[in-house]
Amino acid sequence: MKITVVGAGAVGATTADNIIRRELAEEVVLLDIKEGVSEGKSLDIYQTAALLGFNTKPIGCTNDYEKTKGSDVVVITSGLPRKPGMTREELIGINAGIVKGVTENILKYSPDAIIIVVSNPMDTMTYLAFKEAGIPKQRLIGMGGALDSARFKTYLALAMDVSPLDIHGMVVGGHGDTTMIPLTRLATYNGIPVSNFLSAEELEKVAADTMVGGATLTKLIGTSAWYAPGAATLLLVESIVRNQKRIVPCSVYLEGEYGQNDICMGVPVVLGKNGWEKIIDLELNETEKAAFEKSAEAVRSMNGALNA
Ligand code: NAI
Repeated sequence: MKITVVGAGAVGATTADNIIRRELAEEVVLLDIKEGVSEGKSLDIYQTAALLGFNTKPIGCTNDYEKTKGSDVVVITSGLPRKPGMTREELIGINAGIVKGVTENILKYSPDAIIIVVSNPMDTMTYLAFKEAGIPKQRLIGMGGALDSARFKTYLALAMDVSPLDIHGMVVGGHGDTTMIPLTRLATYNGIPVSNFLSAEELEKVAADTMVGGATLTKLIGTSAWYAPGAATLLLVESIVRNQKRIVPCSVYLEGEYGQNDICMGVPVVLGKNGWEKIIDLELNETEKAAFEKSAEAVRSMNGALNA
């Protein structure tokens, strides 16, 4: 198994670190355009091997795609992160150029790779990568819902004063402050609806906090977050590499599912060795369906900016 992470910034390096600690692959390549950064971070990560006890040796490289040759899974995190006050959507111009170039280079050396897109605005970057790549749709996956769902579960757990491990819940739709849809109606505390424990107002607050979860951190830290994004990306990579068939909301190319066509948006999918293997069709109520439709309109208008 060989895994490449493109972009050795905060999210990329954290993702690589997580993958390496779990020994998910014999080879892990970390690639960045900035001279020395991926080499330095790889060495830093490898220096934890003797302390934490793992054997995978990361390979750092500056824009040398030959080193990525034959990768089974590639994670794209290259691109600008948001600064306080910015939306993910404002990153489109510069990140589109980066994601397009990276996708081309990756496929030159790893034509069979499963590609996970993290760069923002993620749904549009996933759509762009899919159109550029011309590979089966099951091999192109955007990471956003995994992170948003983790934030949703955390806010629910905090509101209920329980462990996040006992909370099940999902966020679907677009990966944007106004486009994501925390599915409060379907969230449970070990199978019991969370509405048994929290009032409608409390649930509304949890949903609102979830939607601005990323922006809250960006405001506090001064740049966008990396621990939870790195762990959420690990969830996708691990389910694929170990063929775990976990159900994770991911941005995938829709052809009629959830009433949408020619768009990448967050829906629950089964992740296994072939990428996303199946879309789970949740029975959304009318309000949730309307929210999904509205979210799709926003994502579609963002995709339109790719041709502007
Ligand atoms: P960062 O600035 O720490 O790292 C980005 C890295 O990409 C830099 O090291 C930069 O040199 C590199 N890079 C730029 N152009 C490149 C190219 N052409 N080839 C290779 N490397 C290149 O940013 P951070 O915080 O790691 O975020 C990365 C991206 O992930 C951003 O677009 C951010 O908005 C997004 N993100 C997405 C999340 C999601 O849930 N989908 C969550 C968190 C961040």
